[in-house]
Amino acid sequence: MALIGVFDSGVGGLSILDEALHQLPEHDYIYLADSANAPYGEKSSEWIAARSLNLCQYLAAEGCDAIVIACNTATAQAIKDIRLTLNLPIIGVEPGIKPAAMQSHKGIVGVLATQATLNSDKFNSLLATLPESCQFIKQAGAGLVPLIEAGKANSEETLELLAKHLEPIWDAGADTLVLGCTHYPFLRKSIRKLLGDSITLIDTSEAVVRQLKRQLEDQAVDTPQGQHGFVRLMSTKDEGILLRMAQELMSSDLNTHSVTAKHLGGLK
Ligand code: DGL
Repeated sequence: MALIGVFDSGVGGLSILDEALHQLPEHDYIYLADSANAPYGEKSSEWIAARSLNLCQYLAAEGCDAIVIACNTATAQAIKDIRLTLNLPIIGVEPGIKPAAMQSHKGIVGVLATQATLNSDKFNSLLATLPESCQFIKQAGAGLVPLIEAGKANSEETLELLAKHLEPIWDAGADTLVLGCTHYPFLRKSIRKLLGDSITLIDTSEAVVRQLKRQLEDQAVDTPQGQHGFVRLMSTKDEGILLRMAQELMSSDLNTHSVTAKHLGGLK
């Protein structure tokens, strides 16, 4: 049985934890939400890199066998340094622009991500490997993360802001939309309300967890069948809110896991 650390700037990475509990329910998890500092997407690269490394060092010190950086923004700015510093499997997430380019019939793809992700070298290097025949309409989802953090993913306010962000993507005729931030899968309902069912939504959580599974297999980690592990939720802001949001946002049955919620203070 492995102990897996999952880290995000806030509640977004719960979309990855959810998928991990579906595919790999037998392992133990620590979910670390840095909600006191969310959103990361509008902070400097240096700040994101230093903070992400700090939190991953904390997870490693807690005994994690692998860490999922369940945040596109932190992956883009920090994964290189984290991999150089920590000697354990580090799995990151990045916007699914490659599968999107393959699935788009029209060759027009919208990418909704944070400004920091869209500005990053990592994202732009990936973009440069894709055929020029595919057009990418990049849009920073400014303001969306704080609304999701405040439990307003399905509110009128969110719908209005989302409509503004999606307008250029819709106007360009995109048939595929990349959810390039782990918070955004929680906007599916609102996106469907605005754009209908015809647009294909790309979210990489399934692929990320398959990658985690492969890494654990490579390490020959023992996986007892039919047992469910524990989930320790940790927030730098309010653990009660994190627990409530996990229960609201995730489709996994948390009652089958032993779930605890703790405040994490004092990390500089
Ligand atoms: N969940 C995040 C991501 O995937 C971070 C969003 C933020 O804090 O701005 O990019």
